[in-house]
Amino acid sequence: MSKANSTTIKSRKSDHVLAARKRQVEYSEPAGFDDVRFVHNCLPEMDFEGVDASAMFLGKRLSAPLIIVGMTGGYPGAEKINLKLAAAAEAEGLAMGLGSQRAMLEKPGLASTYKVRKAAPTIPLIGNIGGCQLSKYGVKKVRSMLDDVEADALAIHLNPLQEVCQPEGDKKFSGILAQIGIFARDLGLPVIVKETGAGISKEAAVQLKKAGAAMIDVSGAGGTSWSKVEYLRSGKKPVFSDWGNPTCECIANCSGVIETIASGGLRDGLDAAKSIALGASFAGAALPFLRAADPKKEAAEWKDSLKIAMLLSGSKNIAQLKKAALVITGRTAEGMERLGIDPSKYARR
Ligand SMILES: Cc1cc2nc3c(=O)[nH]c(=O)nc-3n(C[C@H](O)[C@H](O)[C@H](O)COP(=O)(O)O)c2cc1C
Repeated sequence: MSKANSTTIKSRKSDHVLAARKRQVEYSEPAGFDDVRFVHNCLPEMDFEGVDASAMFLGKRLSAPLIIVGMTGGYPGAEKINLKLAAAAEAEGLAMGLGSQRAMLEKPGLASTYKVRKAAPTIPLIGNIGGCQLSKYGVKKVRSMLDDVEADALAIHLNPLQEVCQPEGDKKFSGILAQIGIFARDLGLPVIVKETGAGISKEAAVQLKKAGAAMIDVSGAGGTSWSKVEYLRSGKKPVFSDWGNPTCECIANCSGVIETIASGGLRDGLDAAKSIALGASFAGAALPFLRAADPKKEAAEWKDSLKIAMLLSGSKNIAQLKKAALVITGRTAEGMERLGIDPSKYARR
């Protein structure tokens, strides 16, 4: 890659973070959490202290099944952001993802912007690369990139919506599934396949499971809209700013197929609890942690709200939360029905 090109990646990365922090970059259509409510339990017969939200992720114990999902790295200002997020995850016992590490593959001097182990020696850490880049770099180079930052797993991100809306986007999407299969087989670390805000369908989840993905992160519609971010940069008419599968629908659709992380429009610990009751094993978010003045405080509040939702739904632990009764109405129930999922099964269990 030319020097001009790697400079472009760097400035695009900082443009993205700036837009995400300061501009209206979220979907107008919701992720669906307003359509989902727990059946309140007025007789929980347990103490708040006794609520156990802990969960195992990538062989490590989390104090709650929460992930600060991948956002940044690859330009000078990103190091401070990543270290702050990592310190929050370490202090609260959560997991964290790094942003796309393509920049450090192109310019090894940028590797330091992804190195967070000094702030977070014990957390499960997820490295990141784009599906479009897999064939270019190959398994060996990506494995050494992951070892360099001491990651426990690789997230391969799929972002066709963003790429087609980005003037300088990579518009070659053929052969990605086969590459995911090669990485899942040869990398020697778990492969998580994630979207970046437009969601994963059941059909795609089946294909990814077959290819050997250990897990998916649905990253559904309703949170950060990457087409909106690109429209802000290009000034084009925002035709596809609400394109995608809403997060709640994705969770209901995919979690029976493959172990699922829920992200995309989760904005507090109650949304995280609803995600798990809908079938996800873990819940994550990006924008709320990027925007938080104090990400550690934000993480602590998510955990607290998750535990309150557990108590009030009579769920002592995560296994019980997965079976808690939910009433699903509105657009989310309608979408589920059209996709062949009976929303009332969540209320009657
Ligand atoms: C500033 C920013 C940068 C992001 N960069 C990446 C990235 O490099 N790789 C990736 O897989 N996802 C990236 N994402 C997407 C998030 O991981 C997540 O899937 C998406 O933002 C939806 O979650 P949210 O609604 O909580 O923001 C980024 C998100 C934000 C806000």
